[in-house]
Amino acid sequence: MIAIVSGKGSPGGTTSLAALAAAWPAPVLLADCDPAGGDLALGWLGHWVVNGFLRTDVGVLSHFIATRHATAGDPGSLIEHVQAAPPARHVGLLAGLSTPGQHTAVGTAGWTRLTVALAAFKTVAGHPADALVDLGRFSSATPWPVLLAADLVLVAVRPTQRHVLAARPVLAELAERILPQRLGLAVCATTPAGTREVRVALGREAAVEVPMAARTAAVFSDGIDGGTPPHRSPLLRTARRVARRLHGTYHTYTPSEPRIPATAAPFHLLPGGAR
Ligand SMILES: Nc1ncnc2c1ncn2[C@@H]1O[C@H](COP(=O)(O)OP(=O)(O)OP(=O)(O)O)[C@@H](O)[C@H]1O
Ligand SMILES: [Mg+2]
Repeated sequence: MIAIVSGKGSPGGTTSLAALAAAWPAPVLLADCDPAGGDLALGWLGHWVVNGFLRTDVGVLSHFIATRHATAGDPGSLIEHVQAAPPARHVGLLAGLSTPGQHTAVGTAGWTRLTVALAAFKTVAGHPADALVDLGRFSSATPWPVLLAADLVLVAVRPTQRHVLAARPVLAELAERILPQRLGLAVCATTPAGTREVRVALGREAAVEVPMAARTAAVFSDGIDGGTPPHRSPLLRTARRVARRLHGTYHTYTPSEPRIPATAAPFHLLPGGAR
């Protein structure tokens, strides 16, 4: 489970995470846990919401309601709330909340149940799936159960003074409860020199770096071109390299595991492919 959280100024956390998911070399669960309201269904996948293919009421909130009487998290409880992302069928979307107020209803108990389910998630085909979790802007509403369970927590930051300064207090607060080896940076809209400067300024490694590429970024943030990423783009090329490296860090392949998204079977969501 890899979670991304940002400081003020919308550095590009959601965009980078969506690009990583699209480039992930295996089935992956893209979980929109931004307590301020989800952006992935409305942004990257907005075209599919408008045409009725994706539902915004199936996701974090529907999982919370369906499990509200459960005392513990149940890994099997999540699959019904996950929908295949049409432009990248190896990606399963757990759509986010629709309004900022809903996070108070979910509360720590709801986020804890969801965290357990995310950590042990399996596709319908029975394959464990990695989870990429968008936590939005760090605030008092941030779901700590997800942060504490994640294998890697990344703070999204751009190589600008404003974003670096905004990331500092976030990193300091996270570092109080998260081990250094599980805390890193996602440097967004960057260049190699920009990434170096951010690493030095914040004293952390960049586990993810995504180049500045406004047009491709707008596919993932705003769903231009129906959310279908261009095949050739520096942003996608980098995302594929980063995704392979991150995936390899946490997995050793076995021959039965699916690995390449372009040719792999789709996410295998609901039996019968209802979504
Ligand atoms: N690599 C990039 N190159 C160019 N523009 C980018 C890049 N990444 C993101 N952007 C742009 O930055 C803007 C903000 O991106 P995004 O919504 O992903 O930020 P965020 O960190 O998720 O914000 P928030 O904290 O509000 O959730 C969008 O317009 C997006 O297209
Ligand atoms: Mg965001």
